[in-house]
Amino acid sequence: MSSKKLRFGFVGVGRRGLNHMQIASQFEEVSLEAACDIDESRLKEAASTYGVRTYKSLDEMLEKEKLDVAVISTPTPLHVPQSLKCLEAGLDIILEKPISLDMREVMDLLKAVEESDRILLVGFQSRYSNVIDKAKEAVDENTLSMVAGYWYWTIPIVKWIRLRSQGGGQMVDQAIHLIDLARYLAGEVESVYAVYTERGRDTEEDRATGFDNWASYVVAMKFRSGAVGCIYSTYALYPGVLRAKGGSGGAVEDKATRESAVTLDVVCREMLIRYAHPAAVRIYRKGKEVEVHTLARDPTIDMYKAFIEAVLTRDKSLLRTLYEDSYKTMAISLAATESATTGKVVNLEEFINKYK
Ligand SMILES: NC(=O)c1ccc[n+]([C@@H]2O[C@H](COP(=O)([O-])OP(=O)(O)OC[C@H]3O[C@@H](n4cnc5c(N)ncnc54)[C@H](O)[C@@H]3O)[C@@H](O)[C@H]2O)c1
Repeated sequence: MSSKKLRFGFVGVGRRGLNHMQIASQFEEVSLEAACDIDESRLKEAASTYGVRTYKSLDEMLEKEKLDVAVISTPTPLHVPQSLKCLEAGLDIILEKPISLDMREVMDLLKAVEESDRILLVGFQSRYSNVIDKAKEAVDENTLSMVAGYWYWTIPIVKWIRLRSQGGGQMVDQAIHLIDLARYLAGEVESVYAVYTERGRDTEEDRATGFDNWASYVVAMKFRSGAVGCIYSTYALYPGVLRAKGGSGGAVEDKATRESAVTLDVVCREMLIRYAHPAAVRIYRKGKEVEVHTLARDPTIDMYKAFIEAVLTRDKSLLRTLYEDSYKTMAISLAATESATTGKVVNLEEFINKYK
C-alpha cells in the first residue's frame, strides 16, 4: 500500500459521525483533517478529541480544505445534496445509510456517480462482517427458499429519526440493514408488498416524545430466483426487550447464545442460517452439530479497510457496498413505503424505471 495519507473530512459529527472518526483514527493511512456540523458542541467534541479544524458549513469546509474523502453522517434528507457537493469537489465518499427518502434523488445521485470517477460507498457495514461471510459461504443458492427477519425496537434515541418526514420509518432507517443483507444472501428482489400501522405507538405519551411515525411494519418480498421473504419491524417495544431481568437461570450467557432483538433467518433445503445481529451466525443442518460463528470485530472497521484500499488502488471491486449496487436496497425500502401507502404490490424494476 502507498504511504500517501488520505485526508478525511467529516460531515455531521453526531452519534454516528463521531463513531466514524474513532474508527478512521485507527488507520495509519488516514489523516483526520476537518469536520463540519451546525451544532457547536459537536464540533468542540470533534476538535478536542481528534484535533480537526471545524466548520459550521460544508461549503466552507470544501472551500478552505484540501480533502480526499468525505464521510457523511447527517440527517437523511441532507445525504444526496451533500454527496453531490462532495462529488463535485472531487472527493471519494463514505455515505451513511439510508441514502434518501426520495427515489428521484436516489437516481439523480446514481447518475452523478456514474458520470464521475469517484468512489461512493454506502454504510451497509454488515456486508463486511466476518459472521456474514460465514452465512454467505453456507447459503445454498439452488435450494434457498425463504428469508425472514425482524428488527424489534423502541422510540429512536435520535429525535429527527422519530419523524416520518426525516427518518422515513423503520423499514427505511434501520430494517434497511436486513433488507440489504437479504439481497446480499438471496439475490435481487422482483416485487414487494407492505403493510404498516400506527397502532401501538399512537398515544398522547408517544406524541409528547416527538414521535410521529408508523409503529410497525411488515414487508413481503418475492425474489427473482423464486424464493420468498418477509421482513418485519417495530418501534412499539421498549429498550432491551429480549434481555430478561433476573439472570439466565444458571445457563452461560454470551453474545452468541443471547436472543437477539434483530435477526435474519435464511432457509435452504434442510438448513437454517440464523444471523443474530450483529453478534453471531448459527448454522443448523440436519443430523449435524450446530455451527456457531461469533463476531470478531466491528464490521465498520473491515468496511474502512476495504474502502481505504479501494481508494488508494482505485479498485472498486474490493467493495461490497458501492452506490451503484446499494441504491437497489434503498429502492426496496422506498417501494415498500409506496406499497404500504397505496395498498398495491410494487414491481421493483418498474419502480426504479419510473425515476430514470
Ligand atoms: N450504519 C449504521 O449502523 C448507522 C448507525 C447510526 C446512524 N447511522 C446513520 O448516520 C446518520 C446520522 O445519524 P446519527 O444517529 O449520527 O444522527 P445525529 O443526529 O446524532 O447526528 C447528525 C449530525 O448532523 C448534524 N447536522 C445537521 N445538519 C447539518 C448540516 N447542514 N451540515 C452538517 N451537519 C449537520 C447534526 O447537528 C448532528 O450532529 C443517519 O443517516 C443514520 O441513519 C448509521
